[in-house]
Amino acid sequence: MEAQIQTLATQALAEIAACADESQLEALRVRLLGKGGELTALSDRMRELSKEDKPRIGKVLNETRASVNAAMEARNAALTAAQETRAFEGVDVSLPSIGFSQGALHPITQLMDRAVQIFRRMGFALADGPDIETEWHCFDALNTPADHPARNEADTFYMPDGRLLRTHTSSIQIRTLEHMAPPVRIIAPGAAYRRDEVDATHLAQFTQMEGLYVDEDVTLGDLRGTLEFFFRELFGEDAEFRFRPHFFPFTEPSFEVDIKAAALGGGRWLEIAGCGMVDPAVFEAVNLRRGDSALDPERYTGFAFGFGLDRLAMIMSQVPDIRLFTDGDQRFLSQF
Ligand code: PHE
Repeated sequence: MEAQIQTLATQALAEIAACADESQLEALRVRLLGKGGELTALSDRMRELSKEDKPRIGKVLNETRASVNAAMEARNAALTAAQETRAFEGVDVSLPSIGFSQGALHPITQLMDRAVQIFRRMGFALADGPDIETEWHCFDALNTPADHPARNEADTFYMPDGRLLRTHTSSIQIRTLEHMAPPVRIIAPGAAYRRDEVDATHLAQFTQMEGLYVDEDVTLGDLRGTLEFFFRELFGEDAEFRFRPHFFPFTEPSFEVDIKAAALGGGRWLEIAGCGMVDPAVFEAVNLRRGDSALDPERYTGFAFGFGLDRLAMIMSQVPDIRLFTDGDQRFLSQF
């Protein structure tokens, strides 16, 4: 009987190794170990054995059953692995996956947010106004007479009803003064429009940030301190400034601000902003419209400033062409 068991074991192991799939393996298991299976039948014959033979043969039988079970499990695992390998056949798992890209804020928006944060820390509030403006808010209230070149048909976009696309966000400051009394401390970021030929440094629509501070005893020193603090936050502590006398209808005196900083390549002066002390004529124009004298020029002074965020972003990130900001090219935008 022992020899019979050995023969069966050898044969069983060979057959297990030859099984080509799970169903063949299962059929073999039933044939060997199932009710009435070959190995089971041998176990049943234990009853016929003598007392002396029983333990020895029993041991051999148990070992055989264990090794057949183990061989089946191993074969099953090998078959499953082979099946998985086949499932991936022809699939190059080293290929890069399908791109998943997450959107981000536009570089101009990012810069605007940063600028707003800095001015907020100095107590400036955010002000807003319409892009389509009246001539009065954009020009007359800002001491810009009808024959001023900025009001030329060729320089500004006029609507059939006489309104226009604002040429600067200074109109927001007028709107604020119409409804507030000093102290007024606001920043006015937003789109501005000019009838410029579009090229590497000009767009017909660009983004401005202007500011206004009106109170008792506001001085040119406050203006300088505010702008220098702001630009140092953006460009670093080493930034140097030059306030060059200039002319704007709505400020007197007026200046253009030049800046030099290592972060901007150092070396050369870059013109970056316009600014000045609010011309009393602006207060008077708004008083007339308000019908009171809330902006008494004898009592209040103020400063105003303005700069282009597109130009600032170009300088900060060495962008060679302003049109890149509006082209919507992912290769450009994803760098920010
Ligand atoms: N409004 C000016 C412009 O658009 C900028 C400016 C604002 C200048 C405030 C002086 C004071 O160019």
